[in-house]
Amino acid sequence: MRKGFFIVLEGPDRSGKSTQAVLLKEWLEQQGMQTILTREPGGTAISEKIRKILLDPQVKAVPVAELFLFAVSRSQHTAEIIKPALAAGKIVISDRFTMSTEAYQGYGRGLPAGMIRTVNRIATEGIKPDLTVVFDVPEQEFEKRIREAEEKNGPDRFEREDIEFRRRIQKAYRTFSRRKGIKRIDASKSIDEIQSELRVLVSETIKDDIR
Ligand SMILES: Nc1ncnc2c1ncn2[C@@H]1O[C@H](COP(=O)(O)OP(=O)(O)OP(=O)(O)O)[C@@H](O)[C@H]1O
Ligand SMILES: [Mg+2]
Repeated sequence: MRKGFFIVLEGPDRSGKSTQAVLLKEWLEQQGMQTILTREPGGTAISEKIRKILLDPQVKAVPVAELFLFAVSRSQHTAEIIKPALAAGKIVISDRFTMSTEAYQGYGRGLPAGMIRTVNRIATEGIKPDLTVVFDVPEQEFEKRIREAEEKNGPDRFEREDIEFRRRIQKAYRTFSRRKGIKRIDASKSIDEIQSELRVLVSETIKDDIR
């Protein structure tokens, strides 16, 4: 049976990943390709429960605990969803994967890169995406969005610390988008423009199976 394809969309919060993932899935299905859309943290019963813990503002985890919570979620997600779907020849689109841990727990929380690589390798059983697309928010656009959010919510809604954290994440993805083998998309473009670029990237990856 034909091996599936594993496509990962990465980028800072609100950079447009989920919007594009849904459009991409629709398009692939129109071409008759069996496609599943999944997300991290999440995708399985255990992972969705962990997602709730991670997203609960009342719950404060130290960085290493946070790293392990994501790793538990990812290992279940890989074994239960991603691996079987790929073995069945499906296209898997994951809204975030290992690179998010490098960005948030690494650049964001300051955990060492080597620790994160090790934990990621264990959690994914070595499975690697065939295509990782990074939604890169250019510096000017990032500053503009922060200003707009401040104007909308009032300056107090965004703590300085939070803005600094976001800035580290944005810079992390900037850096990752230049890695060999990683594809970059300018997240400041329109939804339609981004979707066209994404379709080209995906077609190149799975060119034997798609026109
Ligand atoms: N290219 C775009 N231009 C302008 N607005 C956009 C664009 N793409 C998405 N949006 C809007 O920006 C918001 C965030 O988009 P989306 O939820 O897809 O981002 P995300 O990367 O999945 O965010 P998160 O990491 O928080 O899940 C939504 O309101 C969406 O409609
Ligand atoms: Mg999203």
